Amino acid sequence: MSKPRVLLMHLILDPGPAILAEAAEVVPYPSNKPLDQENIRQAADGCFGIVSHLKDPIGPVVLSTPGLKCVSNVAVGYDNIDVGTATANRVMVTNTPGVLDDSTSDFAFALLMAVARRIVQADTFTRQGNYKGWEIDMMLGTDIHDATLGIIGIGRIGRGVARRAKGFAMRVLYSDMNPLDPDTEQQLNATHVDLPRLLAESDFISVHVPLTNETHHLIGAPQFAHMKPGAILVNTSRGPVVDEAALVEALKSHRIAGAGLDVYEREPAIHPGLMGLHNVVLAPHIASATTRTRSEMSEMAARNMATAVRGGKPPNLLNPDVKTK
Ligand code: DGY
Repeated sequence: MSKPRVLLMHLILDPGPAILAEAAEVVPYPSNKPLDQENIRQAADGCFGIVSHLKDPIGPVVLSTPGLKCVSNVAVGYDNIDVGTATANRVMVTNTPGVLDDSTSDFAFALLMAVARRIVQADTFTRQGNYKGWEIDMMLGTDIHDATLGIIGIGRIGRGVARRAKGFAMRVLYSDMNPLDPDTEQQLNATHVDLPRLLAESDFISVHVPLTNETHHLIGAPQFAHMKPGAILVNTSRGPVVDEAALVEALKSHRIAGAGLDVYEREPAIHPGLMGLHNVVLAPHIASATTRTRSEMSEMAARNMATAVRGGKPPNLLNPDVKTK
């Protein structure tokens, strides 16, 4: 009997391909086709499932593909997928939670440190032959130890960042609709505050919320106006959580001191105003990009899909209603 077909939108890492191939006939997405819904829908024709990346728009057009039963996103975030429509059309949606938390927390901290201690600027300066000898006022930065870190969103990654901050003796504030239990707060040495207080008191602000209607432009001009002039913003969550035009304005006017960004409002486009600024470190959405983590994400996404193909309930099913209806 022939295996169900699964559309693989992009490369996934070992052991993902073998897990998928054991369960399904894997159909690669044509490399010359732009990633729009019409093209994806055509490519998914006759497929049971789609293994997608976060740059793939999986909306109503794709989700109306006859016979489509599962979309497995190789990411913890799934704002590229219209989960409401998927549920209405009885299409399962899965993601890859947990495996990327520590790598992403590491990277948020790396960005924070890179901006505070001007690592990228210093590297360029040195390579360009500008180092002529030690100077008392050369490349002065901001201390990380003993500073106040504000974490917006205290989910798994936010908590990971708080754990790292402990090693730097930082004071940690956090804002979240769901405060931590007192034991966890104590372990992390973190204090729950509202957003205005977090913005006003933090030297570093790190964003760790998913992108939803409520978090879109959560950080915009009014929030920058609340921040300390020396504040440094780090965003490894989703670009549209920060109003990029307002960020450029805040950086240019020195309303805040710097930013470390891994995500952008209109990826892969970057706001042109960010490009020429020296107080910003820009990364191409690589917070989870370690060999181990990307391989674990690939494996998890492949297992989610393979389980669905075999008629089971995928371990990381985001819309369980589809299975129980
Ligand atoms: C995710 O998983 O949502 C990240 O943005 C990419 O690792």
